[in-house]
Amino acid sequence: MDKLRITGGPRLKGRVKISGAKNSALPAMAASLLTAGEVTLENVPLVNDIFTTRRLLRELGVMVEFEPDHSARLRAEKILSHEAPYDGCAIGARPINLHIQGLEKLGATVRTEHGYVEATAERLTGSEIVLDKITVTGTENLMMAASLAHGQTILQNAAREPEVVDLAEMLNRMGAKIDGAGTPTIKIEGVHELKGTMHRVIPDRIEAGTFLVAGAITNGDIEVLDSNPNHLTSLIEKLREAGVNIETGPEGMAVRGNGALKATDVVTKEYPAFATDMQAQYMALMTQANGISFITENIFENRFMHASELLRMGANIRIDGSRAIVSGKDRLTGANVIASDLRASASLILAALIADGVTVIDRVYHLDRGYEKIEEKLRSIGAQIERLK
Ligand code: EPZ
Repeated sequence: MDKLRITGGPRLKGRVKISGAKNSALPAMAASLLTAGEVTLENVPLVNDIFTTRRLLRELGVMVEFEPDHSARLRAEKILSHEAPYDGCAIGARPINLHIQGLEKLGATVRTEHGYVEATAERLTGSEIVLDKITVTGTENLMMAASLAHGQTILQNAAREPEVVDLAEMLNRMGAKIDGAGTPTIKIEGVHELKGTMHRVIPDRIEAGTFLVAGAITNGDIEVLDSNPNHLTSLIEKLREAGVNIETGPEGMAVRGNGALKATDVVTKEYPAFATDMQAQYMALMTQANGISFITENIFENRFMHASELLRMGANIRIDGSRAIVSGKDRLTGANVIASDLRASASLILAALIADGVTVIDRVYHLDRGYEKIEEKLRSIGAQIERLK
């Protein structure tokens, strides 16, 4: 298993380009199943979750070709199988009851047997669905299903994430009739058929946020290009509150650390509030802030795994249910640590960038699921980081 070896110290300086959003490219690839026409996606991040989805789609019979320029061509002309193989996650139970309830509201018959979910329907019928809880992929899944249903569907309490809006834009280009994506109420007029299209995936706001924190924690000076600051308003607000200089512009953002970080509390909630996918990275930053900060995780029940590894590096963090209490500022020292999930891995890299000495991070396969060549990007702005194969 690959490891990363990081020597802490350098202030990061320079320009880094952000890749396309994993959490937008994944549903966009799935949407290719809704048409026999060719779908071309641009700005596709070359990360393992994308490769896993490529393998899955190919097993279902979809033609999937990736080009070196981060574009992908997909065509689901002949579906050979309707069965997707099983796969698991560490940040908590990932229930799909809301997906199933929504599909049943649209008239599907759903059976769960031996861990497999089988959903069948002649043709789905539009309906009003009030989601008990805001779910990102649940909203995306039901938006896709309703696009080809008979009649109108109204999705209430829908997720408002930029990735949901991006998918709705792509589906509308394919001929769907979706209104209200980005608001809690999405209206979908079902159509008979969807056609192929070309779609450019939005920038990855979580990768961009991770590099903003990298600039802040190393007291660095970096430009985060090909990113959209409008998708990161709550993170930018919190970083500024903590004393970090952030400038935004048409090309992206610039972060300039200015030494003293102030402890600043965050509470993770659905978009546009503070993203759970930035919580771990933010915790690493708060270990370097003056004072005590409270980090409350409201979305996933088991998303503090990185805290115990940060403790190994000398951080002072206490977990109290869904809240972490971080007493900064701590001098971190390099250690051997283990990544437990995608964003936890990023948090350990950020801590290692400022720790005294060498940190070795094991199980970086978690990181490769969602970050494209992160060590090369970090090295290009001055980090001392190498992958140990
Ligand atoms: C998406 O996951 C993202 N993944 C996650 O990013 C992200 O953390 C999450 O949204 C929240 O923002 C992708 O887009 C591929 P949810 P998703 O359904 O859709 C509960 C990353 O790091 N729930 O919005 O699976 C659920 O348990 C990943 O890139 C139900 O109870 O998350 C959770 O507590 C990690 N029943 C909450 O809702 C359901 O049927 C929100 O989950 C569905 C969800």
